[in-house]
This record gives sequence, structure tokens and C-alpha cells, in this order.
Amino acid sequence: MTGESLPPAAQIADAPWWRSAVIYQIWPQSFADADGDGTGDLPGITARLGYLAGLGVGAIWLSSFYRSPRADAGYNVADYRQIDPAFGTLEDLDDLLTGARRLGLRVMIDLVPNHTSDQHTWFRQALASQPGSAERARYLFLDGKGDDGSVIPNNWISDFGGPAWTRLTNADGTTDQWYLHSFAPQQPDLNWQNPEVREEFSSILRFWLDRGVDGFRVDVAHGLVKEEGLPDWDGVSGVPDSLRGTDVAHGVFKNFGQMWDQDGVHEIYRNWRKVLDSYPGDRAMVAEAWVPDHDRLARYIRSDEFHHAFNFDFLATYWNAESLRDVITRSLRAAAAVGAPATWVLSNHDVVRHASRLGLPSPGGSPPGISAADPQPDEDLGLRRARAATMLILALPGSAYLWQGEELGLPEHTTLDNTLRQDPIFFRTNGAEAGRDGCRIPLPWQSATPAFGFSETGRTWLPQPPSYRQYTADVQLRDPSSTLQMYRAALGLRRQRQLGLGSLTWLDLGQDVVAFVNSYITVVVNLGSSTLTLPGGQVLMASLPGAVTGSRLAPDTAVWLAS
Ligand code: NOJ
Repeated sequence: MTGESLPPAAQIADAPWWRSAVIYQIWPQSFADADGDGTGDLPGITARLGYLAGLGVGAIWLSSFYRSPRADAGYNVADYRQIDPAFGTLEDLDDLLTGARRLGLRVMIDLVPNHTSDQHTWFRQALASQPGSAERARYLFLDGKGDDGSVIPNNWISDFGGPAWTRLTNADGTTDQWYLHSFAPQQPDLNWQNPEVREEFSSILRFWLDRGVDGFRVDVAHGLVKEEGLPDWDGVSGVPDSLRGTDVAHGVFKNFGQMWDQDGVHEIYRNWRKVLDSYPGDRAMVAEAWVPDHDRLARYIRSDEFHHAFNFDFLATYWNAESLRDVITRSLRAAAAVGAPATWVLSNHDVVRHASRLGLPSPGGSPPGISAADPQPDEDLGLRRARAATMLILALPGSAYLWQGEELGLPEHTTLDNTLRQDPIFFRTNGAEAGRDGCRIPLPWQSATPAFGFSETGRTWLPQPPSYRQYTADVQLRDPSSTLQMYRAALGLRRQRQLGLGSLTWLDLGQDVVAFVNSYITVVVNLGSSTLTLPGGQVLMASLPGAVTGSRLAPDTAVWLAS
């Protein structure tokens, strides 16, 4: 690999914003609470936009804020044209968009097209209608097998555990058809072969584009179309060679087979792209597609489809230099082959925060949550590696996604009381998987106020662990060596040197090292257990104070050098 140059992400001169943007993901429930009810809201976000501009990100992505009974946070949408009252109103969103625009921040929003809520008007109408009706044809209803229809239509499993089908029972106690839900039973899958569904979502896209959003993060983008005839999963289809023989059902990637990544999804996105392109201002969309094969994933970012696809294979790569070099090379090659930017991400609302993941005692992928009964991460080691990992992703060509609170070095809440958990994953696996609540804890802003400044009343919808006191934004803003200041410095330098638009040339500094040059900056990450001798060059910044002593780089740290 040494000396190999990978293709540049783009020609610098006329590159649109999304080719190199750093996009900050906000979980509205947990970012900041303006009205004191313990749940974050849109006015809370608007009030903190200055913090985000000061951090140096170029855009924010708001996770689902739609009206929802919240059986899976906001990912069971009851009305795609309304904001959930817990978060505010459409006018609050207008204020947020105006404030963001004033600060030069773009705003992307979530779109959840694979399934609605079971409280959505369409699903209620379907329940009140007969099998074979137009109302049922918006969803995936089937008769059961067997003489009395009591046998489940196929063997598909829900992403949250348990079967992916639920049988209806009528008010009079008689049984009815089954419906498909790739996630919880409260999230019935839509039938994307139905033109009415397609038309409705084009209209929803336009509704929000007219309102001024800069784009969409598309939930479950690899799931909308299912294999025709809804056949049983054979246990093999869709599993890439690299994962054959592993326990695929429990890995980060568990979406294989006849439900996922069907070729038919692409036509939908080509149509959406036309809608976006008919608006001024470089609107963009990013695919949440859990597709481990980079060439298959790249199909989503062809020039007439998405602008980005999350790089979950990178996220799932453990702290190992060879694996990281390999996944980076594969990512850059596959994206360049279709003329798209690669993307980089370490954390989001569905995985254990990387500051905890990288501090787990035994190497492995991403566990499905951490509870008090599980082995606990080493918080210092995790943070040390997390800071180095951030300096790695922010130096790579392409675009990067940050998850709220990672700039504070926040660990996962790993000892959350099980009685407080809300994630359907915890319940559908009967507690075998702790789930995602631990990464969604309300943010700590101020050390000396109730709820660490999240909410003036001190209320929080989930409790913050006491250790969050040492991670508050106000303390970190005053400390030049804090994680927050490291993020601010790295984002500033990244922008100044246009690292996102650069290209990567690998350096060989040893087996346990990830090292490359991008835009006259030499990036060195030491994943080994001993210090390493650096190549020449002035230190521009390091992941930790004391990471560089003379010309030696400490283990689990990273440095950017002028080359
Ligand atoms: C992916 C989202 O990121 C996750 O949070 C949600 O539970 C599922 N899709 C279902 O919408």
C-alpha cells in the first residue's frame, strides 16, 4: 500500500458543499430543552446554534422530529408533515432554519420512508378495510399459510428481534391477515410497489424542500423494496464473503437477504434526486444503508442518486491499523469509482458511543448496547483512542458525520437502570440486548446547574450519569487541552487546508500505524502499544497533550504534521 495515491475526492474549484462537509447529528430529544419539560426541543437547538457554528461544523442533521407515538423514538411517524408537539411547531423549525442560515449552517432532516407508525391515518384505514382493498395495498399484508392462515407468511426476522410479521385480530376476536414490520410491530412496512406510496413521498419531499431544508437523511434506504413474492430468507443471500460463517444475525450488519438491498430501490432514489435537483441551492441526501460490500454501497451514491451513504463498515472496524487501512482504501476506491465522496462516521444514535466502544476490554465490533451486567469499558483508554480516531476521520478526504456529544468525549451511559430503558430492542430481545438508550442521554452543557444545563428545571427524560459533570461544554471551553478544543482546532485546520477535498497517499510507518499525507499534512495514528518515531515535520496538532515527546508519538494517539 505504501506510496499508493488514491483518487482525489473532487476538483477543488467548484466543489459543492456536500463533497467535504462535516455534518453534526442532533437528537432533538436530548440536545437542549428550552421549555423545561425534560425533553429537548427545536427552540433549545436554535438557542445553541452559536455553539455549533463555533465548533466549526458546516451542517446539522436533525434526527426524526415528526409527530410520532414514539414506539421507536421518532422512527414510527404518524404524520410526515407535522413536528411532534414535544419538540415544537413548524414555526419553531422556521426559526431554526433562519438562525442556521444566518450562521452559515445547512440543515438536513430525517426522512422515514420504509414504514409508518401504526397510528398513521393510512394504517388505521388499512385496519378498517378488507383484505385486497386499496387501503391494505399501501402496506404489505398477506394471508397466513396453512388451512386457517395461522402459519407466518415467511421466516423473516425483525431487525429488533422476533418475527417480522404480526397477525391482526379483529374487534370480535376473529383473526385476520398478517402485516410485515421490518422493525417493531408499531412500524408497519409500506408497499413501495404501490404508485400511491411513491407519489406521497415525492410530495413529502417537496413539502420540506419548500420550507427550506437543505436535504434529507433517509432512514433504512436499503429496505424499501423487498424481493418479489416475499420468499423465505435462505440464510445465505446478501451475506458478503467476509461475513460468511459468522454470526451474522448479531453483528452490526444483520440486514441480509430478501428484505434488503434489492436492486429495485435505486429507481426510487433516481426519482428523488430529480426532485432535489429541481430546487436551487445544492440540496443533498444521505442514505442510511447497512450494506457492508463497498461496491454495492457505492451504487447508492451514483451521480443520479444519493450524495452520501454512511460508511458503516468503517464505523464497525475495530482499533486495528491493518483493518483501518484496508477499509479506508476500499471506501475511497469504491466512492471514487462512481465519482462520489467517501464518508466517515464513528458514532450515531444506533451504536455504542465510540469513546466507550474503543475502551472495551476485548476487541470486537460494536456491541448492541452495554448494561451494568456487561464488561465495562475503560473510560480513559476509550477517550484516548476516540480522540485519535477523530483526528483520523477529520483528516480523510470526503465528508464526515459527528454524533452530538462526541465533541465532548462523552462515554455511553453503561449503567442505566433497566427499568428506565425505552428502546424497543431491549424489550423485543427480552433484555438480552441493552439497546441504544445509553448513547442518547441528554447532553451536559454546564457543570454547576441542574441537569448539567440541559434543562433549567433539572428534568431529563433519561438520567445523566454523574460522570457527565467532567464532560460539560462550559468546563471544556475553558480548558485548552479538552476534547472540545481538540475538535474545534481539527475542524478549523481541516477547513483551512480543505482536507475534505484532498487526496490520500499512504505512508508505511509500521504495521500498527495508520499514516498518510493529505494536502501537505502528514497524519500519523499510533495503534501499537509502544511509542513510534515520527517522520519530520512541524507538529500542527496532536490528539492529546503530551502525545508527542521529541520525535516520538505515544500509543493510541494521533498527530498532524506539516509536510
Ligand atoms: C434506522 C434508525 O437509525 C433507527 O434508529 C431506527 O430504529 C430504525 N431505522 C427504524 O426506523
